[in-house]
Amino acid sequence: MVVEIAKRRLTMQTVEIAPKTTAIRSLDWDRDRFDIEFGLQNGTTYNSFLIQGAKTALIDTSHEKFRQLYLDMLMGLIDPAKLDYLIVSHTEPDHSGLVKDVLALAPNVTVVGSKVAIQFLENWVHQPFTQQIVKNGDRLDLGNGHVLEFVIAPNLHWPDTIFTYDAKTQILYTCDAFGMHYCDDHTFDQDLDLIAADFRYYYDCLMGPNARSVLSALKRMSELPTISTIATGHGPLLHHNVTELVDCYRQWSQAQAKAETTVAVFYISDYGFSDRISQAIAHGITKTGIAVEMMDLKSADPQEVRELVNLAAGLVIGTPPIAGPDAAIHTALNTILAAAKAKQSVGIFESGGGEGESVYPLLAKFRDLGLRPAFPPILIKDTPKPFVYKLCEEAGTDLGQWLSRERSVKQLKALDNDMEKALGRISSGLYILTTQQDNLSSAMVASWVAQASFKPLGVTVAVARDRAIESLLHVGDRFVLNVLEEGNYQKLMKHFLQRFAPGADRFAGVKTYSATNGCPILADALAYMECEVSSRTECGDHWLIYSTVKVGRVSKPDALTAVHHRKVGNYY
Ligand code: FEO
Repeated sequence: MVVEIAKRRLTMQTVEIAPKTTAIRSLDWDRDRFDIEFGLQNGTTYNSFLIQGAKTALIDTSHEKFRQLYLDMLMGLIDPAKLDYLIVSHTEPDHSGLVKDVLALAPNVTVVGSKVAIQFLENWVHQPFTQQIVKNGDRLDLGNGHVLEFVIAPNLHWPDTIFTYDAKTQILYTCDAFGMHYCDDHTFDQDLDLIAADFRYYYDCLMGPNARSVLSALKRMSELPTISTIATGHGPLLHHNVTELVDCYRQWSQAQAKAETTVAVFYISDYGFSDRISQAIAHGITKTGIAVEMMDLKSADPQEVRELVNLAAGLVIGTPPIAGPDAAIHTALNTILAAAKAKQSVGIFESGGGEGESVYPLLAKFRDLGLRPAFPPILIKDTPKPFVYKLCEEAGTDLGQWLSRERSVKQLKALDNDMEKALGRISSGLYILTTQQDNLSSAMVASWVAQASFKPLGVTVAVARDRAIESLLHVGDRFVLNVLEEGNYQKLMKHFLQRFAPGADRFAGVKTYSATNGCPILADALAYMECEVSSRTECGDHWLIYSTVKVGRVSKPDALTAVHHRKVGNYY
């Protein structure tokens, strides 16, 4: 029997991006929906940079899957033994996966990083290395005009992150920040239309939950001289749209930071899947307009932990199966327990496998203190699959919706005026939107649906930002629009309007069959259309999803579409 193993496409690119400055880009064309932030499935790149002044510095390495390709490329550019500095912007393995290999080739290299980064590296490489800890504003002169200045940028995306600015080339190296998971041959951002959705999605998943840290980093960046290029760790480098894209980060982060309510999300940056799970939950929370502050339990200062717990309305805590062995984590958990207040909401997840289940005793302690569990404990034993990330995102949204419920009721009451009543006279049909991608499925009742174009045949659907289905409606995604029938829609409406638990199967007990695009058609619908998302436009608290219609069918030619009449315009 011949077994064909699909080869992942991994390629390399080197480009001289400025005098004596080379980008070494590891192109991962097929990186798919493994982590939540890769949801758009456009691959990714891992970018490393070589600066050759009188002395030579390498900024970050690559993912270990590129070991041979990357090291061959590096050795083709320089003799690694002559490297003077290895600057580690951030220790997550997608950038530092080959640090040990570089140390083996360059035993005399000085590793430069933040205090936290050096600590993380020491715990990881288990061998002595020459090190230099840098603080905000510290400089390193490589000679020939390449004077590097360091900017401390914690939480973008771990607490260890630094940016590096080269005064000679006006390049700012930012690792995760300003990146995107997008892979193509273009080194730079010349086609903004092509990358805009990926830039935004990456921000929402990775940076939005750290909006206040983004604003602090932007403030520090504003104190630097001109920045002509932002050399990110993922995707194309920003050169043609630096001002515009930095401004996007500012606007999006200001909007997040304005939120009146905050949830504290505690995680362990380098343990199991704690980081990615916390990110999915945080993403779900921010969809509801609630701010998130993330904090790494291992490196956090007890005073910072106390302050964050004090200001938060909700707490999310990621624990290892047994919290005991690591003293720092143990101390941080005790600090959270001591500072927690009755009436706060709490959600706990456990990641990293193993048999221990510290999550239940911990939750019991919070209950005893009077905190309200926001979602059932989430236990992650194996590598999380997409449906686990989806469940986590929905758990975060549940928590956010609970915390914003009073504000929503107040807004509803405050807006009940003539204008709202007039707006309420806009009527529409009733529909159920259904979708299925691999093992992920979702559905929602939709009434803000309208035909939007003849050529091509297209429709728009307005989807609230905190809807679970929203994350399955990106450009290229497919769905079915089921049209409900006048006089025969109550059962389906009742089913799909119920409040589903995070990750629950929306189709249990509902008769469906599969459309050619793989999404469920409701057997009791009057008609259906198979659609593909062409674009998404942000409209306040909704996304307006424009989609082309590929296939459609009516089951009862004489029946009428159910009509939705409202009284006020500030509710569906
Ligand atoms: Fe791309 Fe947080 O590493």
